[in-house]
Amino acid sequence: MTEKIELKINGLSVTADSGMTILDAALRKGIYIPHLCHHRQLEPIGACRLCLVEIQGEWKKTVISCKTLVKEGMVVLTETPEIQKIRQINVELIVADHDTDCLNCFQNTKCALQRVADHVGMDKKRLDRLKKPDKLLPIDDSNPFFTFNPNRCVLCGICVRTCDEIQNIQAIDFVHRGLGTKVAGFGDRPRLESNCESCGECIVRCPVGALTEKDAVRPTHQVKTICAFCGCGCGVVLGVRDNKLVSARGDLGNKASKGRLCVKGRFGYKFVNHPDRLTSPMVKKDGNFVEVGWDEALDLVADNFAKNKGDKFAGISSAKATNEDNYVFQKFTRAVMGTNNIDHCARL
Ligand code: FES
Repeated sequence: MTEKIELKINGLSVTADSGMTILDAALRKGIYIPHLCHHRQLEPIGACRLCLVEIQGEWKKTVISCKTLVKEGMVVLTETPEIQKIRQINVELIVADHDTDCLNCFQNTKCALQRVADHVGMDKKRLDRLKKPDKLLPIDDSNPFFTFNPNRCVLCGICVRTCDEIQNIQAIDFVHRGLGTKVAGFGDRPRLESNCESCGECIVRCPVGALTEKDAVRPTHQVKTICAFCGCGCGVVLGVRDNKLVSARGDLGNKASKGRLCVKGRFGYKFVNHPDRLTSPMVKKDGNFVEVGWDEALDLVADNFAKNKGDKFAGISSAKATNEDNYVFQKFTRAVMGTNNIDHCARL
């Protein structure tokens, strides 16, 4: 059983699990500590220096709460004049280097930087002094599914760590140094030339609007279901607007996938409403495909199966089908069609 730790944050009694950071304990209790580079699924790196807190008593010091573990009897203050002063300068430096065209950003109102700036507040005069001309760094539009806008990036490294720690791909990293630092593929090459697998896990975790899905549309309602692409059974939440699928995201509550999706599950939903999608059987007649009813199509298939029994026949089963359907299909191939020519797409 996990050992419980009692501490005080801003005078409130907090019970945390041993091994937890002060930031996680505070957030679980509903106490907001500003943060940008923290993500609960990733190793902390302490890059943004916004999550400062003051520890009182025998351990008295100012620390970053995303890397400091809770201790029994600890007394923590998250808001003091000294912390406020440091945080405000940190926020102003980040905002001064950030594209502030928020109304044209898909993350507007959902942006972690907006929340931090709103909480901490900024000194307008100092910000005006710090503000640099817009960076206008080239946007990486090379990936077919998403766009990376370095002018909106806060260099929190969440995308880099997601690609490394969660996906184990290491397609991106920080390139250049100092003011020129940015996230890119190896050798500052575009995403498409890296070994990015387009899973989109980095987009999900980007706290600002630097990584966004192309043609993103906000749904009016969402439907929880299971991804239909393979047999893994990943949970997917599909977004619907005007009776069309407009988005897909991982279902955090699904025990098989825990919120993660691959490129197919995340971006492969557009076929559903595609005008070229076949919605009824087609049979070739006089060299042209014509629409027919299901009875006619299935009779044709059954007749041709009957004429092609034995080793002339081969079946490839599908990972989209259930275990039971796959079992029945191999049984059908062996017992009815009289051949062992049966395989499965997942063996590839
Ligand atoms: Fe702790 Fe960024 S969240 S340093």
